[in-house]
Amino acid sequence: MAKPVTRFVCQSCGAVTLKWAGKCETCGEWNTIEEETLAARPGPAGKASAGKRVAFVGLAGTAEPPPRAPVGIPELDRVLGGGLVPSSVVLVGGDPGIGKSTLLLQAAAQLARSGRRVLYVSGEESIEQVRLRARRLGVSDTAIELAAAVNVRDIIASLEQTKDAALVVIDSIQTMWLDSIESAPGTVAQVRACSFELIRLAKTGTFSLVLVGHVTKDGSLAGPRVVEHMVDAVLYFEGDRGHQFRILRAVKNRFGATDEIGVFEMTERGLAEVPNPSALFLAERRGNIAGSAVFAGLEGTRPVLVEVQALLAPNPGGSPRRSVIGWDGGRLGMLLAVLETRAGVRMNQTDVYLNIAGGLRVNEPAADLAIAAAIASAAFDKPTSPGMVYFGEVGLSGEVRQVAQAEARLKEAAKLGFDSAALPRRLAHGNRKLAAPEGLRLEEIGHITDLVARFAPESAKNG
Ligand code: TYD
Ligand code: MG
Repeated sequence: MAKPVTRFVCQSCGAVTLKWAGKCETCGEWNTIEEETLAARPGPAGKASAGKRVAFVGLAGTAEPPPRAPVGIPELDRVLGGGLVPSSVVLVGGDPGIGKSTLLLQAAAQLARSGRRVLYVSGEESIEQVRLRARRLGVSDTAIELAAAVNVRDIIASLEQTKDAALVVIDSIQTMWLDSIESAPGTVAQVRACSFELIRLAKTGTFSLVLVGHVTKDGSLAGPRVVEHMVDAVLYFEGDRGHQFRILRAVKNRFGATDEIGVFEMTERGLAEVPNPSALFLAERRGNIAGSAVFAGLEGTRPVLVEVQALLAPNPGGSPRRSVIGWDGGRLGMLLAVLETRAGVRMNQTDVYLNIAGGLRVNEPAADLAIAAAIASAAFDKPTSPGMVYFGEVGLSGEVRQVAQAEARLKEAAKLGFDSAALPRRLAHGNRKLAAPEGLRLEEIGHITDLVARFAPESAKNG
């Protein structure tokens, strides 16, 4: 019998070394290398078996779109790309406590209500705890089959018996355990091996498999991102703990578009869908306050309006603070430098606080113009016009650049009752005409100085 082979694996990046070391040479992390035992492969004694021939085919041929089973929660189905695909594997990641188990129990219940067979394996919570949650969510009456188990061999043996399941949820992959691997549950080796076994089963079966994964502090799934590469879709459930909004975001999807989001609101009775997130993100906006501007943003294919808030506080002497919530701090630094250098807005003795209201995280450069407007509005203590939305990317020379999907943004603004939009100037050479909704006034901003001029008092403009 072959003796077990051991090797050393970095728990952060997955690099394999022959010797233990305090620091991983690949990713530079300290104290992340652990010994792992590989089970000797039970193969034909002595010699490697000859491989079978792989059939190669041409590209032309029938390719049916994957069949989909909509879950019945539109916000979730959108992010999935239309619904669950049989024999596919979805990883749902997120911080502990963000609401993954709640979301999946609700999804499971919805599927079960439509008459399909759903199995829910909880490795973290006892049957009683899951039942308690089900009662709170009002789904106790659904025909979900529940098990509390962590042994993957047992789980696979049971799943092999149940041929007709539509959905199997494993909550969470970090609690799963395979007896042929010596390391503890949650280590790279265990997570990888358990995922591999479960995914292999899903690929040969007809059910959709959902794996729940906890995210570590730095935003990666605990263990290296091994699981992300193995699955068909990766969805992240995120949100600010202080807010009731939760956003489900696809970061990988072999069966649909990524960068789609689903918006949910946390309630006593579980997650409620938010079909119109703009109204929600603008709900607490007070008009007529300097330092606030509305950004007409885009999340996936969906336009979302959000309020951007800037607060400036004098800080003579010390080094000024820049504090950002919901946006990129580096980008704020760039924008402040452009405002100062190109438009003369002095900021070197001012603390700048920037907040995207509602707890949304904005990643688009198109937010530049709205953020610049909020800052300029705060700097000159003059409110932005209450019915105006802003979008446009700001370049280093202060020019305002085109962004994608202007029409979708304008449409959403009109839908929510805004009457004007500040946007990049259309380039002269043959750009097709922008189809703006009727009644929406467009104000083209070619350069950051044009924006600042809207807020600066007359005296400043001349001097
Ligand atoms: P849970 O679903 O257990 O989070 P995760 O599986 O990601 O660790 O939710 C965490 C807690 O929040 C739990 O005590 C229930 C509560 N909660 C609500 O009360 N309402 C909600 O809508 C959600 C999503 C969670
Ligand atoms: Mg959970």
